[in-house]
Formats: sequence, structure tokens, C-alpha cells
Amino acid sequence: MLIFAHRGISGHFPENTLMAFQAALDAQCKAIELDVYALQNQLVVIHDRQLARTTNGEGNLEDHTLESLSALDAGRGESVPTLWQVLQLVANKVVLNIELKGADTAELLIALLAKAQQELQLDLASIVVSSFNHRLLQQLRKLHSTLALGVLIAHRPLDNAAIASQLDACCLNCDRGFVDAELINDAHQRGIKVYVYTVNDAREARELAKIGVDGIFCNYPQEAQNWFAD
Ligand code: G3P
Ligand code: MG
Repeated sequence: MLIFAHRGISGHFPENTLMAFQAALDAQCKAIELDVYALQNQLVVIHDRQLARTTNGEGNLEDHTLESLSALDAGRGESVPTLWQVLQLVANKVVLNIELKGADTAELLIALLAKAQQELQLDLASIVVSSFNHRLLQQLRKLHSTLALGVLIAHRPLDNAAIASQLDACCLNCDRGFVDAELINDAHQRGIKVYVYTVNDAREARELAKIGVDGIFCNYPQEAQNWFAD
């Protein structure tokens, strides 16, 4: 079972901050998930377009400049990081699931990953790019023929994991509410892994493991390492 530190170790640290990502590295997490929007041609790591829940700012992301965004407190004095800052911290140390939230992120991401390959020797095999925006995944596949894609879904499709095959993805990232053996078996027959969000409960995690789920997104990844010890 691959355990993704969801938004970093967000159960104990401010989500999507360098502090939460460093904590995941310190806890020897194997995988990290984060959320990305574009702002002024840069990729920034934040979950909500509205700033109020995770920062001391107000309004929407697009009301800000990079400079004014970076002055906000995202918790315990942390600022909203750029994706580049996170890559500098975690490149090649974990599997990094970059979830694209902003619709205008594909070209910026491809350019940033190329820069990271050059300057940080980033191994692209450690990167998975996911989105609920399936058009965006389609666009990414046209821009890059081998980048690992993850199809995020919040509903149970009639045709099981077919969408992941259609988008040439490596994984189907599903809400925990509807995952069942039929969906998982269909994904596996297609060579596609199934990751489930957001699982913070040991019993639920073990049940998902029993039916063959390959990974979970968890706000308490350090604790979760013990859930599968036996
Ligand atoms: O990528 C898994 C999960 O993070 C998707 O939902 O809303 O937490 O970004 P959300
Ligand atoms: Mg996410």
C-alpha cells in the first residue's frame, strides 16, 4: 500500500506548506500529494482558490500578485510555496503526485518539469500528475507522451476504469465513498492502479487494502505506516 502524505503531513502541519512537506520527508514518507494553481505564470501550491481557509488573506488567488501571496501566512508563519520550491525540497526523494486544480496549468507544468529535469536532475518517473479536469489531462498527454497521469474522479463511473485507459493514465484516484472490488479489478486488468482519497481511519484503510486498493491519500501518513504493519 502506497501512502501519500495528503497536502504534506496536513493532519499535524499547515497543509501544502514546505513545513508539511519537510515533515513528510522526515517521517520517511514514500509519497506526497499537493494541489496546484497558476498565478502570474508561476505554479503555486494551494488547495482552495479562496484564500480564507488556509491563509490569513481574503478574496481569491487571482486578486493577488505572487509577491502579495507570498506575504500571507499559510499557518505557523509558513507562506504559500511555489511548485518550484517544493520540487527543490522533494525531487527524487518521494513519489510526487501533483494535482492540477487550475485549468491554465498544463503548459506551465511541462516547462517547470523540464527545468527540474535539467537543474535538479528530476527523474520524471517519480512524478504523477492528476486532475479532476480530464480535458486538462488530455492536453497534458498531447504535450508530453510519457508523463504519468492520474485520473481523479468523485463519482462511480458506469464503465468502471475505462476513463483511465482513454486518457492513457497510470492510476485512477477515487473518492473513498464508492470504491469497490469490481472497479479495482477492472482497473487492474487494464494495468491501472487505484489510489483512494482521503483515508484517515485505520479500519477503513485495511478494508480498502483487502479489496486490492494500491494506495491511499492520508493526512496522517506517519500513523498510517503502522496500520499495515501486520
Ligand atoms: O488528489 C487526491 C485528493 O487530494 C483530491 O481531492 O480536494 O483533497 O484535492 P482534494
Ligand atoms: Mg488534492
